[in-house]
Amino acid sequence: MKRICISGSGLYTPPQSVSNEELAVAYNRYAQRENERQAAAIAAGTAEPLPMSSPEFIVKASGIRSRHVVDRGGVLDPARMRPRLPRRGDDEPSLMCEMGLLAARQALAGAGRAAAEIDAVLVACSNMQRPYPAMAVELQHYLGAGGYAYDVNVACASAAFGVQAAADAVARGSARAALVVSPEICTGHLNFMNRDCHFIFGDAATALLVESMDVAHGQATFEILGTRLATQYSNNIRNNFGFLNACEEPRRPWDDVLFRQEGRKVFKEVVPLVAELILAHLADLGIEAAAVRRFWLHQANLSMNQLIARRVLGREPSEAEAPVILDEYANTSSAGSVIAFHKFHADLAPGDLGVLCAFGAGYSAGCVVLKRL
Ligand code: COA
Repeated sequence: MKRICISGSGLYTPPQSVSNEELAVAYNRYAQRENERQAAAIAAGTAEPLPMSSPEFIVKASGIRSRHVVDRGGVLDPARMRPRLPRRGDDEPSLMCEMGLLAARQALAGAGRAAAEIDAVLVACSNMQRPYPAMAVELQHYLGAGGYAYDVNVACASAAFGVQAAADAVARGSARAALVVSPEICTGHLNFMNRDCHFIFGDAATALLVESMDVAHGQATFEILGTRLATQYSNNIRNNFGFLNACEEPRRPWDDVLFRQEGRKVFKEVVPLVAELILAHLADLGIEAAAVRRFWLHQANLSMNQLIARRVLGREPSEAEAPVILDEYANTSSAGSVIAFHKFHADLAPGDLGVLCAFGAGYSAGCVVLKRL
């Protein structure tokens, strides 16, 4: 059996960002306008006033302080409350492709690989800009990679599912080197008019290069000791957007085709699922949790990550053991754990062990156990 590694990683961070303060001001202006518009109904008791948001609540409930976004103007405009994106022609690279390319090129540069040496491209993320042609085939084309490409769509766990598929492909010889690219424009599916979730998401793109260890020559190479995936059906995180929306009778309300969740339930149910997945995977690999130097966890909620790490380690994790990027990026869905990996791996020494774990809607979760070479 071939030994497989991650030989490069890449990250694209959109230059614009929005702080909690700015976001709360925009939401509160919107809510105030709505309440004025609905004043008569509210006074008559037939409508509820929209409650106000606060930056203090956001940071306390989630750990998020700001988020990078593809368009702050549209998001912060109380009359719009969603990104404003110029529509592109069919013969131009899509925005998702463009973001993914920047991350992919960085991963290739880190691994010392040319695009032509890549023969599998997986775009693994929550939201695809269109159903077809596959985002991955577009990215493969603009990157100049060979072989084949396809999309992997398992919500926030997508990158881990992509890494397993890529590692299996390289191990079986169906690809020499496979790129797993996760471009996420989460602000496009976020309901900025809903106080309960308007702060949750940000935008970013990541890439990981997976190849056989006997040919890899990247500077920061990690052997993949194992991958494990798990899914368990739940409606607690849901997005009903789809190609049948226009056909359904009665038509769905506009906010039913955006992200929604039961945050409390998600927190309660996903923490044990993920902690057990990591512990069982480590046990089967003969690795003590105490031997793991780093946990690159999905970045949705700070307390959630601390709790998962505490359950796995049996003690409080240090900041170095479970690095946090959601304070700056918010939840970037499938990109989150890879951003943590990309930013916090250089200090690990040869032989050090790490766990990349992504989890989210489905529920879905994926664990990748890595050893620094
Ligand atoms: N500003 C001020 N108050 C707010 C608010 C806001 N923006 N949003 C909600 N509140 C209020 C609620 O109305 C509620 O008030 P009540 O107690 O009077 O009913 C209170 O704050 C608590 O709200 P709740 O939604 O229960 O907060 P929470 O502590 O569960 O935090 C999340 C919300 C979403 C941050 C948290 O549940 C979470 O992150 N869960 C995990 C989600 C996850 O991982 N999802 C994966 C997505 S891919």
